[in-house]
Amino acid sequence: MQTIVITGASRGIGEAVARKLAQDPGAAQRRLVLLCRDAQAGARVVDTLRTAGGAQVDLVVGALDSTRAVTSAALALREVCPRIDVLIHNAGVWPAQRTLDEAGLEQAFVVNHLAPFLLNRLLEGALTEQSGRVVQVSAGLYVMGKPDLARTPYGHDFGALSTYATTKQCNLALLPLFAERWQARGITINALHPGVIRTDLGARPGLLGATLKLAKRLWQPPTAAAPPIVRLALAPELAGITGRYYDVDVETALQKGAADRALAEALWRQAEQLTGLSSGLPETLQAAERDATNAH
Ligand SMILES: NC(=O)c1ccc[n+]([C@@H]2O[C@H](COP(=O)([O-])OP(=O)(O)OC[C@H]3O[C@@H](n4cnc5c(N)ncnc54)[C@H](OP(=O)(O)O)[C@@H]3O)[C@@H](O)[C@H]2O)c1
Repeated sequence: MQTIVITGASRGIGEAVARKLAQDPGAAQRRLVLLCRDAQAGARVVDTLRTAGGAQVDLVVGALDSTRAVTSAALALREVCPRIDVLIHNAGVWPAQRTLDEAGLEQAFVVNHLAPFLLNRLLEGALTEQSGRVVQVSAGLYVMGKPDLARTPYGHDFGALSTYATTKQCNLALLPLFAERWQARGITINALHPGVIRTDLGARPGLLGATLKLAKRLWQPPTAAAPPIVRLALAPELAGITGRYYDVDVETALQKGAADRALAEALWRQAEQLTGLSSGLPETLQAAERDATNAH
């Protein structure tokens, strides 16, 4: 039985990915664990997937909008799935306004960048040796990002589009560092732009919101984004391939800040500080790591 964790599976692309994984051939050999912050919305998706048959489907309720929330979510995931074969970072936000968390960090910086970073670090001990895969749902707009380490974390350079692009770029810049970190353990990480997809991402009130909604009628449905994501998660021909970025399913070189090694290392150090990882793993996770080591 293969365990696949999907973040942000309550709607949009994450729900479409979960549905595909639950219904495709091979589903009976899969356990899907959906991480959703809205318990009701998550339960609704889980119910429809279970009714459709196929995979075993479980829900973990957890938010990704503060480092404390991400740590709780990681602990809950470790409890429910001691071993993870595939981790799909799908949850993301295109913020309408500057919103800060309890630590004064800007919402999109946390959800799009720090949360996948912290989940990777807190769950890496559970990823399956020699075959584990991590998939990062990025965005082609990352090329428009301009990370400013002093201002971006706190939204001092906030702009709805620019913050979305910048936080996606911050996250993507760490891809080569995680690929190197996990190389010896045979765990891979790849990212993709899933296409231009008709979801509620970036929904907002007013004229801009109404115009966006109208434009989205021409965009592709969420089901179109599922195949390239599932390919990165499961395709046998991608076994061992790591640190790559795909524009849907075409491999593309990283550009701008995402290809800047010095920036990536600075973002890594900053993420460790902002998430508290520079002072070590939470004690509960250290215990989980010890248990896992003893079990091997
Ligand atoms: N749609 C596109 O054209 C497009 C293009 C490029 C990249 N992407 C990327 O694709 C991914 C999925 O986007 P989508 O279009 O499906 O957007 P969406 O419909 O708005 O769905 C976003 C998902 O992320 C979850 N989420 C948001 N903030 C969260 C938080 N603080 N904690 C936990 N979960 C949170 C949402 O949960 P709730 O239901 O609880 O809000 C929802 O499940 C994102 O990473 C996005 O950047 C999308």
